[in-house]
Amino acid sequence: MSAEGKDAAAMAVLWHDLECGRYGADLALWQALATDAGSPVLDVGAGTGRVALALARAGHEVVALDLEADLLAALRDRASAAGLALETVQGDARSFELGRRFGLILAPMQTVQLLGGADGRGAFLRQAAHHLRPGALFACALADALEGFDAEHTQPPLPDIVEEDGWVYASQPVAVRIEADGAVIERIRQAVAPDGRRSAEGDAIRLDRLDATMLEREGAAAGLTPAGRRRIEPTEEHVGSEVVLFHG
Ligand SMILES: C[S@@+](CC[C@H](N)C(=O)[O-])C[C@H]1O[C@@H](n2cnc3c(N)ncnc32)[C@H](O)[C@@H]1O
Repeated sequence: MSAEGKDAAAMAVLWHDLECGRYGADLALWQALATDAGSPVLDVGAGTGRVALALARAGHEVVALDLEADLLAALRDRASAAGLALETVQGDARSFELGRRFGLILAPMQTVQLLGGADGRGAFLRQAAHHLRPGALFACALADALEGFDAEHTQPPLPDIVEEDGWVYASQPVAVRIEADGAVIERIRQAVAPDGRRSAEGDAIRLDRLDATMLEREGAAAGLTPAGRRRIEPTEEHVGSEVVLFHG
């Protein structure tokens, strides 16, 4: 049991759900693409299944791939509680080999910006190309360029908060540090016990700098054919994104 009241796996799921799970502005686009492109769908960087579960609920055959076993275990529990058949695969987007091809491959949110720069991204794009059926679709979301801020100079965004079993968990973005080839988003994650005890820890994720033109060029080098872009507008809580489409 950690200081935050749950074991490490449950905490990983809780923070993931709190920081990513409430986003919904992109779901209509993934649903429309899945309807056009057809099953099976491969959701890369599926996490606890925000997108994968929505597509399975709509009747699509879905395979969910992620690096993190704890997130996939939560996804499987949720699928089985909802009576949904859905396959999970623990694997790396840069090196997976599933031995089958897909009608649609998705990389929602900023997953394509988490792969360690151009080399990691190139490896992912080649794996995606290799797993697409002829004529199939591959769609990658890119977060709009972030603006730097820190709590001393700019009002930070509101924290994401959830209450469970008398505990309150809050994740607060405190700074975005802009670097030459990316941006680091720093958060403070706090837990408040029912008796008022508090614990806090820092977390940071690094997003590679990447725009749609760069990604189209890299995709073409990996054997993919650029097939247009779609726009997801910002919400009060999330930046907007550009979704880059490719055919295999
Ligand atoms: C921003 S979250 C998106 C989660 C989910 N797709 C959603 O839209 O709510 C990024 C996900 O990518 C996963 N991830 C990061 N690097 C990965 C890699 N190299 N291979 C597979 N998954 C990865 C993380 O574990 C995390 O679940």
